[in-house]
Amino acid sequence: MKTSLTSIAVALCAAAALARAPNYDEAKVAPYSLEDPLAFADGRRLKDASEWPARRKEILGIFAREMYGQPPPAPEKVVAELREEGSTLAGLAIRRQYRMWFRADKSGPFVDWLLVLPNRIAGTFPETNDVRVACENREKAPVVLMLNFRGNHAVLDDVEVPLTEGGWFRDDGSGGRGQKESDRGALRRSQSRSTVPAEYIVSRGYALLTACYAQVSPDVEVKKGDPEELAYTHVFELWPRRDESRTDNTTALGAWAWALSRGLDLVERIPEADAAKSVVTGCSRLGKAALLAAARDERFAVCVPNQTGGGGVPLAKRDFGENVSTEMAMFPHWYCRAYAKYIDNEQAMKFDQHLLVAAIAPRALLVEGFNNGWFDAKGEWLSCRAASPVWEFLGKEGLPKGEFPDNYDSSCIGAHLGYVRRGGQHGISGYDWRWMLDFADRVFAR
Ligand code: GCU
Repeated sequence: MKTSLTSIAVALCAAAALARAPNYDEAKVAPYSLEDPLAFADGRRLKDASEWPARRKEILGIFAREMYGQPPPAPEKVVAELREEGSTLAGLAIRRQYRMWFRADKSGPFVDWLLVLPNRIAGTFPETNDVRVACENREKAPVVLMLNFRGNHAVLDDVEVPLTEGGWFRDDGSGGRGQKESDRGALRRSQSRSTVPAEYIVSRGYALLTACYAQVSPDVEVKKGDPEELAYTHVFELWPRRDESRTDNTTALGAWAWALSRGLDLVERIPEADAAKSVVTGCSRLGKAALLAAARDERFAVCVPNQTGGGGVPLAKRDFGENVSTEMAMFPHWYCRAYAKYIDNEQAMKFDQHLLVAAIAPRALLVEGFNNGWFDAKGEWLSCRAASPVWEFLGKEGLPKGEFPDNYDSSCIGAHLGYVRRGGQHGISGYDWRWMLDFADRVFAR
């Protein structure tokens, strides 16, 4: 049975009884004004590029207080243990599996990372499945970093990847919950609406590092349980107890973004990986996490948030599709309590998502949108357009000029900032991967 996304959105809203119904009528979008990314909150305009770090810090402070909560503290120590290594993808790649802890004594929560490294010698692929030979000869590869929804075993069709451990696992829509043998390689199946095409990624010369987001912070929706009870477990156990008198406690989105930075810590230790050439990506809520991670952590060279939805790239003050009311009603653990004051009151916001987008400048950002009302593709493009002056101010090319591009029209993908959208189903598709790696290739070739 085919279900349209609009009907999913309607069902979600019905479940969240208190949510304001989304607006899907352009004519009903009320006028709104956006803050100037190049002026401090007190109205003073930035004199020159030397003032950008201070403005960026101010922007990140606003998002920490008002929306995503305070960033989690740095880990006591990152301990990454290589647990398994072998040849995979019929010799095209090397598979490595690490378990990561955040305390020196390896107590407490852990996250399992799967690394897929291109198995190549000077641009060609060796005629051997022997990991040692391949490892000794490898060039440094740029790395794509992402969290996945369904476990590392869903990324590769490889019996050496164990079912991802952990308590809560996402319902796959078939009524099942938890890690299942039948999910092995699910993200590589041609009928899957989301794909992580490991073969394609390594053939393009990129390594892939991924972990399952449920191991970081479990993510139940309001209609299925108490999200807050589950979310603030796992890596939250590392941090001081939540202070319920505060309105800016760390959120699940903040935890996922933090985990992406820990993935980059690991990349920095992998001799065959080039940590200066990292691409952070993710789809939907995990696209929001990728965006937040890159905004907060300047080590990410390229960010490609995919189909982020409300609370990600699209403008909030433009009332179209998902709104603060639906976001808070369905996913209260993604945002901090302070954000609730903008329910039905977005115009009171002294910030909007274009500022988070701008916090990535002058690094490279390609926003991959989704032409669906709930996800407000136009609001994504407008957000990029409003952030673009920051790239120009910092001496880079901004968003290519022109009207809101059509689906699949890549003319709005610039050298450092780009926007592209597509139709079809919600998920990260082959198109998205191609746009992403073409963009990253151009960035890294400079
Ligand atoms: C819902 C939610 C979006 C989110 C998406 C997802 O549609 O409203 O904000 O991006 O789920 O993560 O799948």
